[in-house]
Amino acid sequence: MDPNNPNRESRSTPQYALYQRENFWKSNDGQVPPFNTDPGELERLAQQKLTQNGWFYASSNAGQSHTHTTNRQSFYRHRIIPRMLVDTNTRDTAHTIWSHSVSAPIGFAPVGINKIYNEAGELPVARVAGELNLPYCLSTAGSQPIEDVGVANDALAKDGKGVRFFQLYMPHDDALTRSLLQRAVASGFTACILTLDTWQLGWRHDDVATSNYAFYHGKGADLGLSDPVFQQRLREAGIDPATQPNEAGALWIDSVWHGRAHTWEKAVWAMRLWKELSGGKPFALKGIQSVGDARKAVEMGFDGIVVSNHAGRQVDGAVASLDALEKIVDAVGDKIYIMYDSGVRSASDVFKALALGAQFVFVGRLWIWGLSIMGEAGVRHVMKSLLADFDILLNVGGYRNVGKIIRNRAALESGPRDYPLQPRTFKL
Ligand code: GLV
Repeated sequence: MDPNNPNRESRSTPQYALYQRENFWKSNDGQVPPFNTDPGELERLAQQKLTQNGWFYASSNAGQSHTHTTNRQSFYRHRIIPRMLVDTNTRDTAHTIWSHSVSAPIGFAPVGINKIYNEAGELPVARVAGELNLPYCLSTAGSQPIEDVGVANDALAKDGKGVRFFQLYMPHDDALTRSLLQRAVASGFTACILTLDTWQLGWRHDDVATSNYAFYHGKGADLGLSDPVFQQRLREAGIDPATQPNEAGALWIDSVWHGRAHTWEKAVWAMRLWKELSGGKPFALKGIQSVGDARKAVEMGFDGIVVSNHAGRQVDGAVASLDALEKIVDAVGDKIYIMYDSGVRSASDVFKALALGAQFVFVGRLWIWGLSIMGEAGVRHVMKSLLADFDILLNVGGYRNVGKIIRNRAALESGPRDYPLQPRTFKL
C-alpha cells in the first residue's frame, strides 16, 4: 500500500490501513508485530496471561453461554456484498456521535474492574481511546476514580480532549447517584448511558464455583471508595476501608448491583438529574432487546438506546442482540439514536451492525483481551488493528464512508434466523 497516496489529503482521519503496512515492514527492522489479532488467538493469549479468576471473569457468560453463542451465530447469517470499481480512494472512517467528531463509529464498551486484567485498570484503556479519538465509556463498576480516568482520557488526545461517556449502574441511594453523576460531569464525561440489564449479575457457573467476585475480596472498588457520599456511607456503617477492604468493597458493590429492580419512572428521574447536572447532555439506555422497550424509550424521551444483551452475560438462552437490532431499527430507527453492543469481534461485524441500522457500535472483549495480553500497548494494538481492518474493509468492499453503510440493508445478504445449538467451545 502506497503511504503517499495523494488522496490522503481528503481524509479527516488518519490512513488507518497503513497499520497493516507498518506491521508487514517490521521484520525488515528486526521487529515483530506485538501479537496475532485473530479473535480466537486473542482469547487464547489472554487466557494464558490471566489468573484463573481473571480468565473466568473475562470469559464468563450467563448459564450455558447460549446467548453468547447465538450472538456470534447471528453475525454469520449476514454476508457483506462487496462492490467493485467504487472510488474508495477518498474514503474516510470518520463519524459523528452526539456532535463529537470521532475516528470511526466504534467505541470502548463499558467494562468494569479492569484491574483484574491489568494493575493500572481503566487508565491505559482511557488513554488509548483518547489517542485514537474513539469514545470511551467508563463503567460504574470501574476500578479507578472517575477523575483519574478523565485525566487519562485527555492525556494523549488531540487538543487534549478525549470523548468520554459515563455508564451508570443506578444505586437505590439517590444522593449517591447524584454524586456519581456530578463527578462525571465535572470530569468531562459528555453523555450518560444507564444500563438496564444488570443490577444483579446473571448466574455464571465458573464465577460462582470459585467465589469470583473481586469486590468481595478487596479489589476494584476504587470508583466508589473515592466518592464523598459513599465515604459517608462507609462511616455510617462503621467500615474502615483501610482495615476492612472486603467489607468496604461489598458495601460498594451491593449499592450498585443491589438486586432491586428499577422502574421506567426512575430511569426518567435519572435522565432529568443528568440533564440538570450536565446542562442537557445526552442520556441513553443500554440493554434494550425488545421492540416494546425501544418504543417506550422513544415515548419517554430518551436520547438513545444501546441494543445489547450484555454480551450474553445476563440472560441465558436469550435472543441474539443483532436480531433484536434489526427489529428495533425497523420499528423506531427514525425516531431515536440506536447503538449496538454484544458479540462484536471484527470490522466486518461492525459493518453488519451498521448496515442493519445501528449508528454506532461498542466493542468490549476485544480490548479486554488486548489489555490482558500487553497492557496499554495491547489495547493500542487491538484497536489500531480494528481501525485498520475497518479502513481496509471499506476499501476492498467498495464503501467510501460510514454514511454509505448505515442502514444499507442492500449491502447484506441475510439468511434465515435458524441457529443450531452449538457446544460451548464454539469457535469464534
Ligand atoms: C458486569 O458488567 C459484568 O458483566 O460482569
